Amino acid sequence: MSFDIDKIRNDFPVLGEKVYNKQLIYFDNGATTQKPSPVIEIINKYHSKLNSSIHRGVHFLSDQATNDYEDARKKVAEFINAEKSSEIIFTSGSTGSINMLAFSFGEKFVSEGDEIIITEMEHHANIVPWQMLCERKKAKLKIIPFNDEGILQTESLSTLITEKTKLVSVIHISNTLGTINPIKNIIEIAHRQSIPVMIDAAQSIQHLSVDVQELDCDFLVFSGHKAYGPTGIGILYGKEKWLENLPPYQGGGDMVDIVTFENTTYNEVPFKFEAGTTNYIGAIGMAEALRYIESIGLENIGKYETELMHYATKKLKETGIVTIYGNAPEKASILSFLIDGVHMADAGMMFDKLGIAVRVGTHCAQTVMQHFNIDGTVRASMSMYNTKEEIDYLCQTIHQVKAMLS
Ligand code: ALA
Repeated sequence: MSFDIDKIRNDFPVLGEKVYNKQLIYFDNGATTQKPSPVIEIINKYHSKLNSSIHRGVHFLSDQATNDYEDARKKVAEFINAEKSSEIIFTSGSTGSINMLAFSFGEKFVSEGDEIIITEMEHHANIVPWQMLCERKKAKLKIIPFNDEGILQTESLSTLITEKTKLVSVIHISNTLGTINPIKNIIEIAHRQSIPVMIDAAQSIQHLSVDVQELDCDFLVFSGHKAYGPTGIGILYGKEKWLENLPPYQGGGDMVDIVTFENTTYNEVPFKFEAGTTNYIGAIGMAEALRYIESIGLENIGKYETELMHYATKKLKETGIVTIYGNAPEKASILSFLIDGVHMADAGMMFDKLGIAVRVGTHCAQTVMQHFNIDGTVRASMSMYNTKEEIDYLCQTIHQVKAMLS
């Protein structure tokens, strides 16, 4: 399909809304994306016609829900080219996935004195679970730094790795700087020392093609809601050889085989990691969102978003009153900036009143702000449904904001 921006925008009902009587301009896609009609419709259909618990019933509705849930797993596997759908675990989102991995991997493979390596540009979801693990096990967290352009200093990885290193966990696209990290290279460096790598694809899965077999990553996570799907759903991908060896994260129904008061044996992978009634409608909605992405074409989306990013960068620079944080040559459509002499929170409030939704603050990445010694930034994160006209409006309002606030 060709890239038809008007049709795409029509697919997202919320884009027709007004805020404070102004046409909504939604530039907060890094936090969460809007939902297209097919996703909204399938969730509605499920709640109104098909709802039933999966893996538990012998009746029509339960069978249907189970089949659709397992089809959703297959869709995710196909989307990231996993070898088997059993390598996909449904979780509550990227954060849930990383917490699950940090616990299970940590229980099995991390001991006192061991090391986990992450980067300086992680969001909190890929810092804190590893810190908690390190605290629990008396292990050490090591950091790959980035430079002032927002480029990861990948060359330092080889020197950070020691015989104590157990895992490397890296954000694919920085939610704050927009940097696209060279994950294939990072995976190769770590694998030379037989160290597994987890990729946080929360900001990349909706922007560029991610092929877990081609990358050869050991684990990968993403969230449904940042990829046009519902909230409260995401995945942890793991190579079968790892998942088979990891202990479960949570106990409860469905993750078990035989339960007695003396002992419990566990279900097979992936069910071993899906305790309780999962968010099956979320999973089905997420699969529909992936189908929607496919109907537009990831390559078309990536190309369009990159064009928007270059246009917005140029326009922001032309204002002459903006500093951009994150200027890596390989960047996604995420722009963090500050208007000279204007506090980010004031700018955010003004943008809001003018109908523009941006995020202000640390973007769940306080360590990135610490690098630049700033409190936070304004972030405009663009998606396939944003336009150059919206960027022009943002840049016009920057002058208004500056005039009113400085
Ligand atoms: N990580 C999310 C963001 O970038 C919450 O806004």
